[in-house]
Amino acid sequence: MTAGFDDWMTTVQARVESDLDGFLPAAGALPARLHEAMRYALLGGGKRVRPLLVYAAGALFGADAPALSRAAAAVEMIHAYSLVHDDMPCMDDDALRRGKPTVHVAYDEATALLVGDALQSQAFLVLAEADGVPAARQVAMLRLLAQAAGSAGMCGGQAIDLASVGVSLTLAQLEQMHQLKTGALLRAAVVLGALAGKELAAVEIAALNDYARAIGLAFQVVDDVLDATADSATLGKTAGKDAADNKPTYVSILGLGPSRALAQQLRLDAHAALAPFGEQALRLRELADLIVQRKA
Ligand code: IPE
Ligand code: IPE
Ligand code: MG
Ligand code: MG
Ligand code: MG
Repeated sequence: MTAGFDDWMTTVQARVESDLDGFLPAAGALPARLHEAMRYALLGGGKRVRPLLVYAAGALFGADAPALSRAAAAVEMIHAYSLVHDDMPCMDDDALRRGKPTVHVAYDEATALLVGDALQSQAFLVLAEADGVPAARQVAMLRLLAQAAGSAGMCGGQAIDLASVGVSLTLAQLEQMHQLKTGALLRAAVVLGALAGKELAAVEIAALNDYARAIGLAFQVVDDVLDATADSATLGKTAGKDAADNKPTYVSILGLGPSRALAQQLRLDAHAALAPFGEQALRLRELADLIVQRKA
C-alpha cells in the first residue's frame, strides 16, 4: 500500500461518519429510543470497507461526491443492519460488536429487530433521494442494492449459514454461501460506486465484476481465519465463535494454511482483474490488499 493510502482512507472514513450522521434521523426525534439505537449501531465503529470500495470505484469512473456519499452511506446502512440481526440470539447470539455490547444487549431484542428494519429502509431512502444522478441510473442503483441485500444475496447467504450448522458442506457450497452472505454486498459496493459515475463499457463491467467477486470471497475467507486466530479485543467481536457454534468455514473445511493461501490467491486475482484500468485503479488494488492483510 502506498503512503497516500492511509490518508485517503482516513479522509473517506471521516466523510462517511459525518454523512451517516447527517442521513439518520436526529437522536431526539421520536421515537427517541429507536433513533438512539440506530445511531448506536451505525456510528462510531467499523472499518467502513464497503464505503471505501464505493469511493474507490467511483473515483475510477469520475463519479460526483454527492452521489458517492449517498451510495456509500446506503451500503453501510445495509451492512450495519445485517450485523445487528446477525448478532441476535436467534442467529449467532453474540454479545460484542465493534468493541461494544451488541444492540440487543445494550437495548433489547425487539429494539434490535426494529433497528435492523429501520436501517434497511433508511438505506433505500438515502439512495432514492440522491440528486444529480440520471433517473434510470438511480433505479439501477436501487435495484442492485435490493438484490444484493435480499434472498438472492445477503439474506439468502445468512439463511444457508444458519441451515449449515453442524453440516459438512462441499467447498463449492461453502463458496456459494460466502459469496452470498458477504460477497454480494461488497460486490454491490464496487458496482454502486461505478454506477454513480460515467457510462461503463462492457469490458469494464466484466473486469469490475471479476475484481468484486475475488475481494467479496476473500473478505469472508479472512473473516473465518481471523475468527480462528485473533482475539476478541483485537476483533471487537467474539473470537472463536465459528468453531464453538459448529459453523462450516474455510478454516474448518480447508484448514488454516490453505485458507490463508486462498486469500492471497484471491488478492492476486483481484489485482489481475484490474489490469485494464492501469494506474487509475490504485485505490481498488490497495483495498484488495487491505481486505486480505487486515488484522481485524
Ligand atoms: C463483518 O464485517 C461481517 C462480515 C460480513 C464478515 P466487517 O468486518 O466489515 O465489520 P465492520 O463493519 O468492520 O464492523
Ligand atoms: C456475517 O458473517 C455475515 C453477515 C451478513 C453479517 P459472520 O457471522 O461470520 O460475521 P461476524 O463474524 O459475526 O462478524
Ligand atoms: Mg453469522
Ligand atoms: Mg456472526
Ligand atoms: Mg465471522
